[in-house]
Amino acid sequence: MSQMPFGEELSARLEATRKTLASIEQTHLLDHAEQCSEESLEALLDQCDDIDLLAAHRFMLEAASSDYQAPPLESIRPARSIARHPDDEAALRTHGQKVIDDGKVAAFTVAGGQGTRLGWNGPKGSFPAAPLTGKPLFRLFAEQILAAGRRADRTIPWYIMTSPINDAETRAFFRDNNYFGLNRTDIFMFPQGVFPSYDDDGKFMLASPESIAVNPDGHGGSLRALRNSGAIEDMQSRGIEQISYFQVDNPSVRALDPLFLGLHLDAGRSSGEMSSKMIPKSSPGEKVGVFCSIDDRTCVIEYSDLPEELSAATDDSGALRFIAGSIAIHVLSVEFVDRITGRESNEGLPVHKAHKKVPSYLPSENRVVSPETPNATKLEMFIFDAIPLASRSLVYETDRVEEFAPIKNSEGVDSARSSHELQLERAARWLEAAGHGFPRSEDGSRLADVEISALTAMEPADLRSSPDVPETISAGDQLAI
Ligand code: UD1
Repeated sequence: MSQMPFGEELSARLEATRKTLASIEQTHLLDHAEQCSEESLEALLDQCDDIDLLAAHRFMLEAASSDYQAPPLESIRPARSIARHPDDEAALRTHGQKVIDDGKVAAFTVAGGQGTRLGWNGPKGSFPAAPLTGKPLFRLFAEQILAAGRRADRTIPWYIMTSPINDAETRAFFRDNNYFGLNRTDIFMFPQGVFPSYDDDGKFMLASPESIAVNPDGHGGSLRALRNSGAIEDMQSRGIEQISYFQVDNPSVRALDPLFLGLHLDAGRSSGEMSSKMIPKSSPGEKVGVFCSIDDRTCVIEYSDLPEELSAATDDSGALRFIAGSIAIHVLSVEFVDRITGRESNEGLPVHKAHKKVPSYLPSENRVVSPETPNATKLEMFIFDAIPLASRSLVYETDRVEEFAPIKNSEGVDSARSSHELQLERAARWLEAAGHGFPRSEDGSRLADVEISALTAMEPADLRSSPDVPETISAGDQLAI
């Protein structure tokens, strides 16, 4: 009998994993196992356990057989069911506020992205986003959650999805900032899942002797991550019924919006399952997904998938036909997420494929090879693909200055600079709406810069009698209140 290179327990694990891999024709991942140190092999086997390789393989086959095809042009129509300025706004707002006050709503931030375009070396949520104080994105959301909790006289839980790449750093950032004044126990952080990348022969790849090449499974992965992490159960045990979902890159988001919640709860006269916010696109080429309707079901088509023929199409008045841009803000009912993630298969979300350059470790040469041309497929899921699965969904039109100031790029469109401008303009409008004077030039441009913390005001009305607003704001003032 040949000598086993590893202890009994590790050898048994190795054989068990080999068997699993054999069932999906991926045993090559362990061909070099006998050359590994015990530590390396353990790390590799741990990762195999964590990934759920059988599910990953199923997704791969599904992606291979259902190459994303843009639906036929004639079947794509602009989304209907868009709510604007509801007549009964006050009643809806009161209803939404009540569910917040009753502790039935949680905030949920997806913060798993890597911020590559932004060139920020750290979790995106740690990026200094406020125009004057430089408060990081996470602090801006935390202040909103804190303020909403104070108003409701209760704590509001905050669920945050990280990725395996930034989870530890994100946790450290929160610890170092004393959880921004929130209770540690009301913050539930969990990493999203990953998909193994695979080469053009459908083989998963190694990134190093002890790891498989993987990528985060997209923000659509947040649904299965909510389930796998135990977040859904945690929500149910706290009596949470609605999830207020937003991306980490938008400092102007209303983390908990009473009006939007009220609309969602009233969708089609009964509670909605997934609702969304949109703004009119600023140009045909703006990089936002577009709300469309296919076979009478609302969906979002990502900007890169919407044929130019449609993105540039105009109606008789010259307005864009496909004008409803997604700002990636949703409310999902816990029941809906529970239902669609309880399924056996892939939660019903399609997988999107991208052909990319993925460096791979070659055991035969004991080195990592970086390809010059795309050599592998990465899979991702998108949250908005859950919209057509909802039996009741609505799209609510909101205002760009009020709610959408994303920071995605290091300069130009959607950069910190453009975001600051939008945040400062919103603050000026709020002050004006609350009856305070604000210095503007004749052409309407702002002559002062004011940053408003959510702890001071969550809406213009809060500024009316706020002691933090000075009697006069003069040209040239720079003020954080
Ligand atoms: C995204 C939307 C787009 C929408 C726009 C609004 C997609 C594919 N497109 O574009 O329809 O109009 O935002 O701003 O989402 N994230 C994760 N895990 C991942 C990938 C992303 O948590 O695996 C998070 C990121 O941290 C970020 C957000 O999702 O907060 C957006 O991801 P990104 O890939 O930057 O999408 P955009 O191109 O900005």
